[in-house]
Amino acid sequence: MAYITWKETFEIGFQLIDDQHKSFINLLNELHDAQSKGTGQHLIKEALTKFIDYTHYHFKTEEDLFKLYNYPLAAEHLEEHSYFIDKVRSFQINVQKNDLLLSLKTIDFLKDWTINHILGTDQQFSDFIRSRELGDN
Ligand SMILES: [Fe+2]
Repeated sequence: MAYITWKETFEIGFQLIDDQHKSFINLLNELHDAQSKGTGQHLIKEALTKFIDYTHYHFKTEEDLFKLYNYPLAAEHLEEHSYFIDKVRSFQINVQKNDLLLSLKTIDFLKDWTINHILGTDQQFSDFIRSRELGDN
């Protein structure tokens, strides 16, 4: 069974972001697989790099949308993204420099942050767009 199973409640109602969140969670599952199977450090490094690259790509998509929609809560949302990027980068540095494996606790942190962020902060953005669109009609 997958580490994180996609649930309908994760959908924020914005197709592009929902699709990216599914990929994001798939990559987190791959990272967890690499860690839990003890497949060796180079696979963990690879999975972590893939995850970080996608994180940048995905956050950029959201941040471009904030500009497009003139989102009033963009600054707070960006802060959450920066916090996460800093954390993930520090995990990556640790893995590369000290030849450490990622702990399950670290991956659990990534999972918890991701789910909380989707259900809270990302949902808030989707609600904003929806209310704006309703208001425009
Ligand atoms: Fe976000």
